[in-house]
Amino acid sequence: MHEKPTGGLVVGLLLLVVLSTIACGVAVGFAVYNHNKSADNEEKIEQMKEVQSLSLGFMWEDRVTSMPPTDYGEFLNRVMEESIKQDRNSELGALSLKTQYAHWMGFGKEIVSHDRPGPCTKVFGADGGSEDLVILQNGLMFMTSGFLHPFEGRVLLYDFNKPNMTVLNVNIVKGPDSDFRADDFHPHGMSSWEENGQIYLYVLNHAKARDSVEMFQFDNSTQTITHLRNFTSPDFNFMNDLVMVSKLSFFITNFLRWRDPARIELEIRLMSHFGTILFYDGTKPSTTAATTVFRSLSMPNGINMSPDGKFIYVAEYGTMNLKVYKRNLLDNSLTEHDTRNTETAVDNIAVEPHTGDLWIGCHPILNKVHDYINSGATGISPSQVLRVKLNEGKIVELIETYVNDSREISASTSAAYYNGKMVITTLSDNHILVCDAVAID
Ligand SMILES: *[C@@H]1O[C@H](CO)[C@@H](O)[C@H](O)[C@H]1NC(C)=O
Ligand SMILES: *[C@@H]1O[C@H](CO)[C@@H](O)[C@H](O)[C@H]1NC(C)=O
Ligand SMILES: *[C@@H]1O[C@H](CO)[C@@H](O)[C@H](O)[C@H]1NC(C)=O
Ligand SMILES: *[C@@H]1O[C@H](CO)[C@@H](O)[C@H](O)[C@H]1NC(C)=O
Ligand SMILES: *[C@@H]1O[C@H](CO)[C@@H](O)[C@H](O)[C@H]1NC(C)=O
Repeated sequence: MHEKPTGGLVVGLLLLVVLSTIACGVAVGFAVYNHNKSADNEEKIEQMKEVQSLSLGFMWEDRVTSMPPTDYGEFLNRVMEESIKQDRNSELGALSLKTQYAHWMGFGKEIVSHDRPGPCTKVFGADGGSEDLVILQNGLMFMTSGFLHPFEGRVLLYDFNKPNMTVLNVNIVKGPDSDFRADDFHPHGMSSWEENGQIYLYVLNHAKARDSVEMFQFDNSTQTITHLRNFTSPDFNFMNDLVMVSKLSFFITNFLRWRDPARIELEIRLMSHFGTILFYDGTKPSTTAATTVFRSLSMPNGINMSPDGKFIYVAEYGTMNLKVYKRNLLDNSLTEHDTRNTETAVDNIAVEPHTGDLWIGCHPILNKVHDYINSGATGISPSQVLRVKLNEGKIVELIETYVNDSREISASTSAAYYNGKMVITTLSDNHILVCDAVAID
């Protein structure tokens, strides 16, 4: 069964009502995400991009690096003024930058309810959130918890084979060469690697001094993980997510150029394009292990790989684009292969191993999730899941499989599919959502 309802996209001046969908008339329905843009809109978007790159020309890295945070507001105004001066259409410059920001932030956007994938169950025990996830072939799902302060940094476990189980905490044990510090563990993105019957987990850690990737080994008999080592690099700034391509090498997204809160705010307000994708070869010394394989992305967020290893998928949060790169299997260089605007802030990407479909946790109204983060996870932040079908790395279809205003689940950061179930995990909720998803097969 694969019935396609029609989706509607109404665009008004700073008033966007997206996700308005027409129910498809079957018990379990879903909406096709409408991203059909008129030529008019395409032209406006091109103009905005031009203006944005213009304004970013004023944002030299060394100037911001040496600027005290109190000057950022003034700096932002100057960028706006300069973009007015430089733009052929006069005020359109600042206006379009502001309009683009408003569009990205989703001011005026609403969530319109539609039929859900099937009965969904809240599974508790995820206090502190469940930002990213990996699912092993045997149905064990690991999640990272504690992205927002002051929550404790943890690794969580859910077993799809035991439907009545709650989310469990996984004990962390220090290996012989480990200097792991539980009090300096602030997990974000996660990946895994299975080799010779051993299971390794890799967790991005926003430690106080610098970002690092922590490598663990899972012991199934004791249900603990042992910390083995870390991966660091002078090229790590504010990292987001990684995908392993061997036991010691990975692709990793560099979300923002700076790590301190004031500059993070500035980069976000300017919708900066300082994001990069790095390839990390863990057999080399940490000073030379990382190579930049792609530059000038706007806040690259989730990253993952096709089951055959040929394609790398990146959720470009700042442009709302889903990007597909072709991976050179010999030297791990990437070339752009496909890109699609999703009209939503795409977060983590899970790859379903049998079909190759992507499951993406999204923030459909970005200003809400930013308020939610800034207020210490209070208020509401809607949740949304996109499922993406591909053919040889080309994006064929985007399907909105789930949307909720946050009463059922808030700030969905990841989604995945395992054996007839769809799971949704979050930035900070105390539960995950496990839904019956047979009807969307
Ligand atoms: C997109 O819109 C155009 C013009 O309104 C229409 O002709 C076309 O069929 C639409 N494409 C899709 C995929 O809906
Ligand atoms: C799960 O719990 C429900 C009710 O709490 C019970 O009916 C069912 O048998 C349980 N299933 C398993 C696999 O334990
Ligand atoms: C993990 O351990 C459990 C018992 O604790 C066992 O039932 C299961 O088969 C083991 N799984 C693997 C993959 O070794
Ligand atoms: C990473 O590992 C190195 C070498 O073992 C160690 O010196 C360092 O303290 C570790 N932690 C971080 C966060 O860099
Ligand atoms: C969100 O989920 C709650 C609880 O299931 C439900 O009452 C509400 O209608 C849903 N809202 C939307 C907009 O999907």
